[in-house]
Order: sequence, then C-alpha cells, then structure tokens
Amino acid sequence: KRDMPWRAPYIDPSSHTATDDLRSALKVRAYQVWISEIMLQQTRVETVKQYWLNWMAKYPTIESLAAADEEDVLSSWRGLGYYSRATRIHTAAKKVVADRDMDGLLPETPQELEKNVPGVGPYTAGAISSIVFGKPVPILDGNVARVLARQLGLYSNPKAKATTDLMWAVAARLVVKAYEVEGEKGEVPGEWNQALMELGSTVCTPTKPGCGECRIRPSCRAYHEAEADAVRGKKKQ
Ligand code: ADE
Repeated sequence: KRDMPWRAPYIDPSSHTATDDLRSALKVRAYQVWISEIMLQQTRVETVKQYWLNWMAKYPTIESLAAADEEDVLSSWRGLGYYSRATRIHTAAKKVVADRDMDGLLPETPQELEKNVPGVGPYTAGAISSIVFGKPVPILDGNVARVLARQLGLYSNPKAKATTDLMWAVAARLVVKAYEVEGEKGEVPGEWNQALMELGSTVCTPTKPGCGECRIRPSCRAYHEAEADAVRGKKKQ
C-alpha cells in the first residue's frame, strides 16, 4: 500500500459501543473518502495529497463545506481543474446536510449514494460504500479493469458497454467471494478493492507491467499467453 493521507483504518462498527460515536466517526470518514475519490478521478495521487490536506484543514466537516461560500470552495479547488467537480461537491454537501434522513451522513449503499448525492456515479458510490461502510460491493476503475482483463485474458474493447458490464459483474463476484471466505475471516471489502486499484497502478501498469513481482501472476491468463507466444516465437527462429 502506498501512503495516502485519506487512508485511515476501516472503522469496525462492533468496536463502537455508543451509537452516536459510531455515527460521528462514519460521518467524518465518509466525507473524507468522498472528497478524496472525487479529487482522484481526474488528478494524480501525488497532486491530490496536498490538495486533500489543505481542503480538510479548511473544511474539516461536511457541515463546514456546506456553510462555505461558493467562491471560497472554487478557490480551494484552483489547480485541480474540472471545476464542475467543486461546484457539484458543494451542492451535494448542502443537500446531504439539509436532508433530514441523511443529516450530514452519506448513505451506505451504492444505490442510495447514486440517487441522493449529486455527482456520485457507480465508481464513487462503490468506493464510499466499500471503504467506509464495509459493504461487499465492487469498484471498477481503469486500473481494476486492466488487472481483471489480463487475469481473464479478455481482449474485447475495454470501452464497450458489454465489456464494462462484464467487468463490473466480475469485480462484484470477486469482492463478495473474498468477503465470504467460509470458516475464516474474509477480506475487508474496502481493502480488497483498494488492493486491486493499487496493483493496477503500481504493478499491472498499462505498459511494461511488473509481472516479475506480481503476486497473482500464476492465475494470469495474459501472462501465460504472452509466455507461450514467446516460446513459439523462439521455436520459429
Ligand atoms: N485511485 C483512486 N482511488 C483510489 C484508492 N482509494 N486507492 C488506490 N488508488 C485509487
């Protein structure tokens, strides 16, 4: 795992005795993860780190963001680009705080997140639901899609809807399977999802992947096919 300031340990609900304590811990955590994932959508990890820290110093809670001036919010976003992300976050914060049911706490399931939080699509919904609330739901970003496509030896157009639908389904089955390991403690869904993203961005890279250090190489179809091709190539020479 790379060190990222928004990566706090998963909050285990059973470790909190008072409901209010758990609620306020989840509230802050959901807000922090939400902001980090929106920032990370179009901006590199290294750049996001400092922006995220500055942001949290300025708006430590979703309430403080909701109460801020639009101009202020936009100036805090300056340099990150895609400014509609900032206005959408601001609008969403105001809504989540004003809504009686949510009362400042983001919802737990991807469906509710997408429905109630403007600007939250399938990716961010999966991230918040799994990382913050421990739900065994998938995240599929470009990195995860590449890891899974290589594992499966899938060479169809990565942008085609049929391909992304299939990938979401695969990612969903994997996180559920990992979570439900029979007879022993399974994986924490948010850790599982982030490990896949991490593998994609650090080892299973678009060009020159680090297959030599890859822990899941034995099950990688693309690796074995490339190896077989290389052997055949040699024989021909
Ligand atoms: N890219 C975007 N969000 C990420 C996360 N939570 N972990 C690793 N890479 C990411």
